[in-house]
Amino acid sequence: MSDLSIPPLAELRKRRSAKWRTFPDDVLPLPVAEMDFPLAHPVAEALREAVDRSDTGYAAPTGDLADAVSGYARRAWDWTIDPGQVRTVADVGIGMVEILRRVVGPGDRVVVSPPVYEPFAWWIGEVGAQVVEAPLAGGPGAWRLDLDALERAFAGHAAAYLLCNPHNPVGLVHRREDLVALAELADRYGVHVLSDEIHAPLVLPGATFVPFLSVSAEARRWGFSFLSASKGWNLAGLKAAAVVTADPAPKRYVDRLSPHSLYRTGHLGVIATVAAFTEGGPWLAGVVAALDRNRTLLGELLAQSLPGARYGRPEAGFLAWIDFRALGWGDDPAARILTAARVALNSGHRYGPTGAGFARLNFGCAPETLTEAITRIAASR
Ligand SMILES: Cc1ncc(COP(=O)(O)O)c(C=O)c1O
Repeated sequence: MSDLSIPPLAELRKRRSAKWRTFPDDVLPLPVAEMDFPLAHPVAEALREAVDRSDTGYAAPTGDLADAVSGYARRAWDWTIDPGQVRTVADVGIGMVEILRRVVGPGDRVVVSPPVYEPFAWWIGEVGAQVVEAPLAGGPGAWRLDLDALERAFAGHAAAYLLCNPHNPVGLVHRREDLVALAELADRYGVHVLSDEIHAPLVLPGATFVPFLSVSAEARRWGFSFLSASKGWNLAGLKAAAVVTADPAPKRYVDRLSPHSLYRTGHLGVIATVAAFTEGGPWLAGVVAALDRNRTLLGELLAQSLPGARYGRPEAGFLAWIDFRALGWGDDPAARILTAARVALNSGHRYGPTGAGFARLNFGCAPETLTEAITRIAASR
């Protein structure tokens, strides 16, 4: 079996993770953001060796993760990160919430650009702040940050902006000029920018990831980057991520994180993350090629069997944002599809009001599974 052959569904169903245990066995589960590829060999080896050593204690106070993250950023994106400005946290969600807690107060306004990853709104709620929406401009295949909407939101006394870079669920890789303009707005209005860069390793051919902190001095003054191997190498359950800064001003907030945050990070997560960022490049290249083929296959399948559904090829990741509005399936096509086709997708309206009539599909699976999903959906019409 090659490193990337996806096991048959019967094998995948033996996994104990959320993707495989949320739905009954007659449902094809394509919502939860886990991929079906087998683990990268160097990651699996590192974990196996740790288990063989009974090495399952606390994460150690070393610079291993910081060095691995900065080495990867230099090789993959030509971005120089100071390992001294990398802080280990348990996951991106915890990192974002803990930084938000330090940069905003109760009732403060925090801006997001829907349709966007649903937990952004939960995280803002968790710190007692309020969500302000500056929706993306454009539509399938042509999404962009709406800089005018962002300026209006920032001018209305926003305290922070949650940037999704690349942007889940539409798969947009933000353009350098938009990030430069965003950083200028942040500087003009004094808005902290928390850039969630978890999908960055999965940028697909044709697009180039631009780290927010790399674009300008203004971006560095106001920005925090959140990086993790959890999407790229499918390690979400192991709990390790990094908060990165590149200027003393945001670093001061990171320095106020609990000294205990390292011990709340998964030791196996750190081990796997270091292996992924240092030795997982060839595996990732294979995954990116497979996702590239799957995004093309999905476009072909939709055009053949569900021509009313609109889909803009994502530039990154394994998530497709599909517009079902022309099919007359109402505001929540995912609910109809689950009942009628036994295929689970994410409901678009959960990503903000502009997501009504859309659904999100995870194509980090075998081409056969993708074909079966679209065939079932088409047959259920
Ligand atoms: C944009 C984005 N941020 C964060 C997460 C969750 O990351 P973590 O498990 O590290 O909190 C996801 C998971 O799908 C995601 O898509």
